Amino acid sequence: MKYKKKGTIKIAIDSPAAAGAGTLAKAISKHYNLFYLDTGKIYRYIANLKLKSSRNLSISLLKKKIKALKMIDLRNKELRSDKVGIEASIISKNKKIRNLVHTFQINYAYSPPRKYNGSCLDGRDITYKIVPDAEFKFFITANIKTRANRRFKELKKIKKNITYSEVLKSIKKRDKSDYSRKLSPLKKTKDSVLINTTNLSKRACFLKIKKIIDKKLNK
Ligand code: C5P
Repeated sequence: MKYKKKGTIKIAIDSPAAAGAGTLAKAISKHYNLFYLDTGKIYRYIANLKLKSSRNLSISLLKKKIKALKMIDLRNKELRSDKVGIEASIISKNKKIRNLVHTFQINYAYSPPRKYNGSCLDGRDITYKIVPDAEFKFFITANIKTRANRRFKELKKIKKNITYSEVLKSIKKRDKSDYSRKLSPLKKTKDSVLINTTNLSKRACFLKIKKIIDKKLNK
């Protein structure tokens, strides 16, 4: 890369469920050598702990769990299920839980491991709450049927026994909860670039974002 400006860059992405943000964020992170953090996975990790536990998990216990959390824990396939996703959208309304996750995210966003040129985080409140001073902000979306179809295919691949209409219903439910909650709702900020992935291939979306980033970096 031959950029005029050197230094770390931060990319913040917000998006509703299954809009393709994760795939794009990974590709962008790889291209610019950025540390990638899928913040939804942290909420999913807590949701999964909750689903597996027979008792109520205290905030102090969760605090310890988050402190000990390793990237490898977020790769657990169990976290991808629809059940965990729905539970994540419930526990993510809890202020104390959000505060725990906030600290974890800030560490990686602002102090990524040294081998990286910066960070790229995606989630629901990244552009305005977690990394409000990000050099690049994107709001990635797609129409609901396209998102449901993509998530359905993903879940089928990992052999989840679920129908398309169940996936559609659950995405609608999560959208409603994520957009309308009081605490850190999903929204597009004025300074975020809207990327609608409905009719674009992964490659086309990647190139669109890359063009925006390169233009600013090479100024
Ligand atoms: O992105 P993903 O679908 O894995 O996120 C699961 C849930 O976690 C979302 O529906 C949302 O309620 C919550 N979440 C959040 N804030 C984030 C990322 C995810 O509230 N930054």
